[in-house]
Amino acid sequence: MVRTQGTHHIFLLGLISWTSSAGHCHLYNNRYVGEKVIRIFPKSDKEADELRNVYHQLQVDLWQPSSISHVMKDTVSDVHTSINSSHALLSYLTKMKIKHRILVNNVQKMLDSQEFRPRRKRRSLKKYNYEEYHPLNEIESWMFFMNKTYSDLVYIFSVGKSYEGRQLFVLKLGKDTQSYKKAIWIDCGIHAREWIGPAFCQWFVKEAVSSYKKDPAMRKILNLLDIYVMPVFNVDGYHFSWHSDRFWRKTRSKHRGCHCHGVDANRNWKVHWSDEGASLNPCDNNYCGPFPESEPEVKAVAQFLYRQRKHIRAYLSFHAYAQMILYPYSYQYNAIPNLSCVELAANNAVLAIRSAYGTRYKHGPASTTLYLTSGSSMDWAYSKGIPYSYAFELRDTGHYGFLLPESLIRPTCTETMLAVKNITMHILKKCH
Ligand SMILES: *[C@@H]1O[C@H](CO)[C@@H](O)[C@H](O)[C@H]1NC(C)=O
Ligand SMILES: *[C@@H]1O[C@H](CO)[C@@H](O)[C@H](O)[C@H]1NC(C)=O
Ligand SMILES: *[C@@H]1O[C@H](CO)[C@@H](O)[C@H](O)[C@H]1NC(C)=O
Ligand SMILES: *[C@@H]1O[C@H](CO)[C@@H](O)[C@H](O)[C@H]1NC(C)=O
Ligand SMILES: [Zn+2]
Repeated sequence: MVRTQGTHHIFLLGLISWTSSAGHCHLYNNRYVGEKVIRIFPKSDKEADELRNVYHQLQVDLWQPSSISHVMKDTVSDVHTSINSSHALLSYLTKMKIKHRILVNNVQKMLDSQEFRPRRKRRSLKKYNYEEYHPLNEIESWMFFMNKTYSDLVYIFSVGKSYEGRQLFVLKLGKDTQSYKKAIWIDCGIHAREWIGPAFCQWFVKEAVSSYKKDPAMRKILNLLDIYVMPVFNVDGYHFSWHSDRFWRKTRSKHRGCHCHGVDANRNWKVHWSDEGASLNPCDNNYCGPFPESEPEVKAVAQFLYRQRKHIRAYLSFHAYAQMILYPYSYQYNAIPNLSCVELAANNAVLAIRSAYGTRYKHGPASTTLYLTSGSSMDWAYSKGIPYSYAFELRDTGHYGFLLPESLIRPTCTETMLAVKNITMHILKKCH
């Protein structure tokens, strides 16, 4: 599957499907026309209960929280609805006097207007645009290019293959110093539709290699540590989100006896698997799979992390959206044994983010800060002895949700970069 590299300096056009009428381009064959995203504020247990039923009946696509079981009073839920169900939902909300607000009035219009104006020109990889979202084939070409161009700092390898047979590529960043090095693992794109994640992973690599010479902190980091960066964890899902369904979240595996595709790759890990906050229904967005590590992507990364666990000091996983830095546990409310160092690093990371543009992040244990989930990669990494394990929920807090415009890639990645550097520097020091 490693393609020959002779021609990869020229990009092929992205293959997003679009239709054209009256001079306008409609991405994804116009399938989201008239669809809405509605933010709802249930204020009692009764309202939350009823909403869960209504969501289930109308088969809405929940943006936040990630599953119906997490819909609770005093917690907003953002729901993406088809035309028909938005009518039904809005009249229900009005009738029941449940507080709500429309976040996106026409999902198709938002997609067509902001994200991919047909501006994709053939470009040299030397002028890779980090302020655009890129389809998988471009990200792979870019990874080969970085491996070749920065061969003293970047090394590409694959940890395995996805369900659909794609390579699971990882970039190892660091100066080869012969001596024993600690390591950090960074992954992006466990959930397909959270496109800002892969954009950040690419940004991180670019910043690391381009500032190595001039920034003493980065030089120190890459001299002392190996940093593994997996820009797209869920490669099949990410590809699907470009070509078929922009709001796809799960992997693309198919399991016997059910018509629904995919498993939530952040519920499939062997740590309290299929407990609280995960579903055993294959059609749910938080389906934990038929058994732990059923997904080849999860299994491959778990194997790699397990073999390297003595080296790896930090596991960082990038998601969207909520503006939070979360640490274990996800599956229970108890505090982790050595909370203070993990909490201190998270707190400093939040301050580092705020120092750039004033963006406010929350931080804390995932269970109490977001909601209870089981089988998450972060809890798994922590359970294998990786002491600093974090999940980032990047911008925003729902204004654009998963459709964060490309103009916000730069500020989002700039502030996030400060946080990751801050955590990394923390890890290089002793904490106690
Ligand atoms: C939506 O409603 C229209 C009119 O009632 C109906 O014809 C159509 O089949 C419905 N679509 C779906 C997906 O339910
Ligand atoms: C990575 O770069 C090295 C050194 O230039 C090269 O030998 C290797 O083939 C490259 N790997 C890939 C997958 O392109
Ligand atoms: C990390 O953040 C803390 C708190 O803001 C700050 O004191 C420290 O200088 C930061 N470190 C780096 C390397 O940015
Ligand atoms: C947490 O405690 C364990 C056992 O005392 C120790 O091995 C580990 O390094 C500690 N982690 C941190 C982040 O301090
Ligand atoms: Zn996610």
